Amino acid sequence: MADVVSLMDIDEDAKDKNHFPRPNKGKSVVVAGNPPDAKATPWVEKYRPQSLADVAAHRDIIDTIDRLTSENRLPHLLLYGPPGTGKTSTILAVARKLYGAQMHNMVLELNASDDRGIDVVRQQIQDFASTQSFSFCGKSSVKLVLLDEADAMTKDAQFALRRVIEKYTKNTRFSLICNHVNKIIPALQSRCTRFRFAPLDAIHVTERLKHVIQSEELDVTESGLAALVRLSNGDMRKALNILQSTHMASQQITEEAVYLCTGNPLPKDIEQISHWLLNESFAVGFRRISEIKARKGLALVDIVREVTMFVFKIKMPSDVRVQLINDMADIEYRLSFGCNDKLQLGSLFSTFARARSALVVAAK
Ligand SMILES: Nc1ncnc2c1ncn2[C@@H]1O[C@H](COP(=O)(O)OP(=O)(O)OP(=O)(O)O)[C@@H](O)[C@H]1O
Ligand SMILES: [Mg+2]
Repeated sequence: MADVVSLMDIDEDAKDKNHFPRPNKGKSVVVAGNPPDAKATPWVEKYRPQSLADVAAHRDIIDTIDRLTSENRLPHLLLYGPPGTGKTSTILAVARKLYGAQMHNMVLELNASDDRGIDVVRQQIQDFASTQSFSFCGKSSVKLVLLDEADAMTKDAQFALRRVIEKYTKNTRFSLICNHVNKIIPALQSRCTRFRFAPLDAIHVTERLKHVIQSEELDVTESGLAALVRLSNGDMRKALNILQSTHMASQQITEEAVYLCTGNPLPKDIEQISHWLLNESFAVGFRRISEIKARKGLALVDIVREVTMFVFKIKMPSDVRVQLINDMADIEYRLSFGCNDKLQLGSLFSTFARARSALVVAAK
């Protein structure tokens, strides 16, 4: 008997090695049995854009999708890009615009966590696609199948999906959403119009955060807001999650509160640590860094990453800088595999000792 291929089978590579099922990347989870409390609603959901106009940034993409939707010419879509940039929100806003109150009849949402055989899913799509479509303003509207986290599908499932898309194209549009477009087979890519959602730039993250801060009447300092924007790295979900958790932990949202809440080292601590690495003896520097690390509960991997960024700001010959950054990338890599912290801190010192010698030579 032929193997049953799950359309939503998760690629082995895509599974988190230590956690199964897959982590939800900070996305909200509805817990059955717990009535939603308005105050406890995660802000990522409370402030999810409801319409295309609410989606921050990506103006060209949103305008194009908006126009295609208005003209009833929606193609199959492939939305890809890093987390928290508005892919799912955009497609849900499209569905809302197309179908309004009928959305739940017209949209079939499938996710990588739906572990069902291809036959079941094919049947599900067929049942969904073959029922009567509603008419809107005299136009018969196509239905929408959303395949979120499509990059977690196995190659076999993707090949199977090719045929499914072709078969139901007449009255159904497919929207694939993923983070890593290179994990989508070319045959599927070529059936879709692709849009890349880049990380949001600082201006848009700031604007959106200000909107939430105003609505929630929060007390946020200027440097606190700047820290939120810096740590979110263009991921709006992350920005809102940090804002909400910092708000739960402290009355006023300052730079220090934000860094404390996320466990990230403060910029002034990184400056101090870099100073020790560049100037202190091994024994003194090692002791001081170990002490600040323990006192503030910092992870060495975060220290190394931030010191690497700090090195970009220090004036030094470019060959010394390149070598230093290279060596620190190696340490960060080893730490990410759980190598011993003390050994890697020693390694960090020897890296800086080499850089210091090179700086002395360059100065002569
Ligand atoms: N462009 C944006 N404009 C406004 N809010 C946004 C935007 N992008 C993300 N958000 C906020 O982040 C939350 C998560 O966004 P969304 O689910 O659309 O991200 P995604 O791109 O689908 O991420 P993932 O790849 O992790 O699934 C939204 O509920 C919203 O609050
Ligand atoms: Mg999404």
